[in-house]
Amino acid sequence: MPGTVRKAIFPVGGLGTRFLPATKSMPKEMLPVVDKPLIQYAVEEAANAGIEEFIFVTGRGKSAIEDHFDHAYELQALLETRGKKSPLELVKASIPNPGQIAYIRQQEPLGLGHAVWCARNFVGSEPVAILLADDLIHVEPGCLKQMIDTYKTVGGNMLALAEVSSEDVSSYGIIEPEEEDGDTLVKVKGLVEKPNISDAPSNLAIIGRYILQPQIFETLNSFELGAGGEIQLTDAIARQIGDEPLYGFRFKGQRFDCGSQVGFLEANISLALDRPELKTSIVDFLKKISRT
Ligand code: G1P
Repeated sequence: MPGTVRKAIFPVGGLGTRFLPATKSMPKEMLPVVDKPLIQYAVEEAANAGIEEFIFVTGRGKSAIEDHFDHAYELQALLETRGKKSPLELVKASIPNPGQIAYIRQQEPLGLGHAVWCARNFVGSEPVAILLADDLIHVEPGCLKQMIDTYKTVGGNMLALAEVSSEDVSSYGIIEPEEEDGDTLVKVKGLVEKPNISDAPSNLAIIGRYILQPQIFETLNSFELGAGGEIQLTDAIARQIGDEPLYGFRFKGQRFDCGSQVGFLEANISLALDRPELKTSIVDFLKKISRT
């Protein structure tokens, strides 16, 4: 039986250059979609999938993330004194239990594979989930929960998949399916990070949710450089094919690429439209501006 997935890694060391100047002194993972930071969506998705330990791989200038998942005593005391119950509940809801959250510094930006490798001692010999907060997936049950439910029967390594247009394949890790029959679960025989359109084995892209066996850390240990001169997680997963079955998982739900400005704005509009108290005003506004 596949081991229980109790731990998750959140690589949050990226610079967020596409959101400058907003991200000059603020981590891109703290950008809010409606009223919640991107990273909190990912943490809640993981908690709702049964994750008990949250491992953040951070970098310089990311301390706002640590503060976000901690008590804010002055704020909490003030809200309490003023009887502001619901904001107080929202502030408290983002705080995990003591000891559930750990922070590691990735001292140099050597790539996603390197960021994941930095978490090796905290993961030990258990399977682990990885969530990239840039990929906001709006659905209930969450994407990671959908994946873990399937992983419990098939085991192995698993990646979330979505179809992308051929112009976009060079922005993603792209899989080579063993057979493409549109099923939810796709057996994968190859992977390539950010291929040219002409070399892409399919248009099925890796989206930022993974379940990986701990052997990935040994594979990453070789520090092989891949696309962009970085240590790529995609390459390490590809090297494990043969030792470990690899599945792609077509999740249900809408995914927003919040690493891009358009995706981020779409997420804000779409999630605002999902909120009954905001919907009417947003619809009216959208109608008004689409007429001009
Ligand atoms: C990373 C991965 C890539 C994956 C993507 C999903 O790329 O390396 O394989 O398709 O996340 O968002 P990044 O967006 O960090 O360049």
